Amino acid sequence: MVVRITGTGSCLPEKRMDNFEIARMVDTTDEWIQSRTGIKARHIAQEETAVFLAVTAANRALEDAGIPAEEIDLIIVSTLSSEQMLPCTACSVQEGIHAKNAAAFDLNAACSGFIVAFQMAVGQMEAGLSKNALIIGVECLSNILNWKDRGTCILFGDGAGAAVISARSGERKPEIPMVLHSDGSRGGVLTCRNLFGKSREENPDGYVAMDGREIYKFAVRKVPEVVEEILEKAGSSAQEIDYFLLHQANRRIIQSIAKHIGQPEEKFPMNMMENGNMSSASIPVLLDEINKEGKLKRGMKLVVAGFGAGLTWGGFYLEW
Ligand code: ACO
Repeated sequence: MVVRITGTGSCLPEKRMDNFEIARMVDTTDEWIQSRTGIKARHIAQEETAVFLAVTAANRALEDAGIPAEEIDLIIVSTLSSEQMLPCTACSVQEGIHAKNAAAFDLNAACSGFIVAFQMAVGQMEAGLSKNALIIGVECLSNILNWKDRGTCILFGDGAGAAVISARSGERKPEIPMVLHSDGSRGGVLTCRNLFGKSREENPDGYVAMDGREIYKFAVRKVPEVVEEILEKAGSSAQEIDYFLLHQANRRIIQSIAKHIGQPEEKFPMNMMENGNMSSASIPVLLDEINKEGKLKRGMKLVVAGFGAGLTWGGFYLEW
């Protein structure tokens, strides 16, 4: 069996909010944000919902893959910030794209969510339970940000990215090298406690709260480790990899990882400059951007890796 990504799509909200606009809300500057994070702007949902963004990204991915929605048998949506808990966002996407034959569910592994969704879909394919899966990372993080906290509101953005994964019978390739880790004992460094109907005044913990320095240290230590693990499983070397697609939290984090792995920055595409950190949507939106720019050629070798709240981290190796 051969598993491939056959189509990608994305959707960003219309409203672009640059750093200057944020500097009118909290005590910060464009210079501070850009120099610490690389972020210049982000998109913020106003009229758009997570379901709308996900459905639009999904339709674009289906079009790119050239398959009708009825052939999708599995939809996995990764989100931590959808407006709705029930029905799950994946079921609303199923309805929105008319994928009548799909099983659908959501998962939450924060910024590692797209990695986890990919691994779950491949697992279902390996078990013979799916042939064409649609995986989506969608976030409306602006729903859960405290717009008075300059430590967090400057970092995040909204958006959705989708990928169609297809399994085709044929010569059996070695399994897709994948790794996944969690450390719940360190969950306190990035939290957002559910509101369950309470107002923000009643529950101030309902906003994203973060120990930025701890996450920074965690990311620059764990991502190179996980890349090494993936390369070892793939029997490949960093030199052989065409692109490293990493979670787009912060340019300095990615530069530090590139240096650690000993590879040039050009191999690490970035989009946080215009999109901010979109949690589980960051990687699939980046994948769609470089795909649509024609940068991905058949047979190219990719390492995709992410990290996030939980704590969670992981990744996979893929030939395009
Ligand atoms: N504008 C101006 N000053 C600020 C701002 C701001 N927006 N935010 C903080 N400061 C101030 C602080 O108050 C502090 O002032 P002080 O020295 O007088 O106390 C000073 O700037 C330095 O603050 P630090 O927090 O030490 O700044 P640091 O260089 O660590 O940068 C940052 C902060 C950008 C958040 C960094 O730690 C980071 O990127 N961490 C990783 C965060 C992350 O990736 N989170 C999400 C990952 S998981 C996921 O994606 C869900």
